[in-house]
Amino acid sequence: MNWWKELKGKVRLKEPLCKHTTFKIGGACAYFIEPKDAADLKLLLNLLKRYKIPCKVIGSGSNILAGAGFIEGAVIHLNSPYFKKINFRKNCLEAGSGCILSRLISAAVNKGFSGCEFMEGIPGTVGGALVMNAGRASEKESFGDLVETVMVMDYNGNTKVLDKTKLEFSYRSSNLGKYIILGAGIKLIKRAKEETRNKIKQYLDYRRATQDYSGPSAGCVFKNPPGSSAGRLIDLCGLKGKSIGKARISENHANFIINMGGAEAGDVLKLIAFVKRKVKNKFNITLEPEIKIWK
Ligand code: EPU
Repeated sequence: MNWWKELKGKVRLKEPLCKHTTFKIGGACAYFIEPKDAADLKLLLNLLKRYKIPCKVIGSGSNILAGAGFIEGAVIHLNSPYFKKINFRKNCLEAGSGCILSRLISAAVNKGFSGCEFMEGIPGTVGGALVMNAGRASEKESFGDLVETVMVMDYNGNTKVLDKTKLEFSYRSSNLGKYIILGAGIKLIKRAKEETRNKIKQYLDYRRATQDYSGPSAGCVFKNPPGSSAGRLIDLCGLKGKSIGKARISENHANFIINMGGAEAGDVLKLIAFVKRKVKNKFNITLEPEIKIWK
């Protein structure tokens, strides 16, 4: 039964998710679908409902650990040009959900705008970064602070524009998880390009010096517990370099797990459980994963 035939976007069958996660880990999903535009997404959601097919949404796959098992449902990827548009309206930048953050930052700086450069180096999309309220923990800067409006679609295919008063953001969390994000209006300020470019360079230099780009990862694995740093706690347990299978705790930043080549989701999950146990025993703190685990 080719229920997807009416769709205008791309449909791939039995697509391996390791091709779509920054961890380079993950088994196949039954349907990997890139709708052409909002109307196509609405049609897709109606079809999924009619045929009782569960679905998940993926952005750049930078915060996902996908299991090795086959995912029976559909994975929706908002990656067509329609979902990656950027427009400027006065001091507001409107960005599609599938737009990569680095593109958003360079588009803003090229127009003489500043405010979103603290996200430089985060390998996410606008949609994923909003749901997760991505940011810099140390400076308490997060994407949610910049957002004026978010355009969403619910899983029945209805679109809405949520203004600031309807949005709730907290550390690595938002009230947007129940929607599919279509795009956002982001408020920026005018600033000389040179000044903003210098700030971008500083952010990138800091990340390059303190984080680990030696192999595939999902960035920070655990959320920082209140008033503390997960990286520091794991480091103080002496766990840098600890490996299980082909998954290893980074030598540079203890909150990163690196796929040394051919790591399986099970290796990472065992390492996560091991870290949680060690930190609990030493500090009586329960670390919570920041990454989403797809089983
Ligand atoms: N630290 C250690 N050992 C380590 C790692 C860190 O002692 O192995 C110490 C550092 O020296 C520093 C403190 O812990 O004093 C905080 O470290 P860092 O500045 O690297 O920040 P973080 O809290 O570990 C957070 C975000 C990062 C984001 C940076 C940018 C979380 C969980 N992590 O890291 O986000 O890039 O701030 O400032 O909120 C991500 O979300 O994937 C991510 C990496």
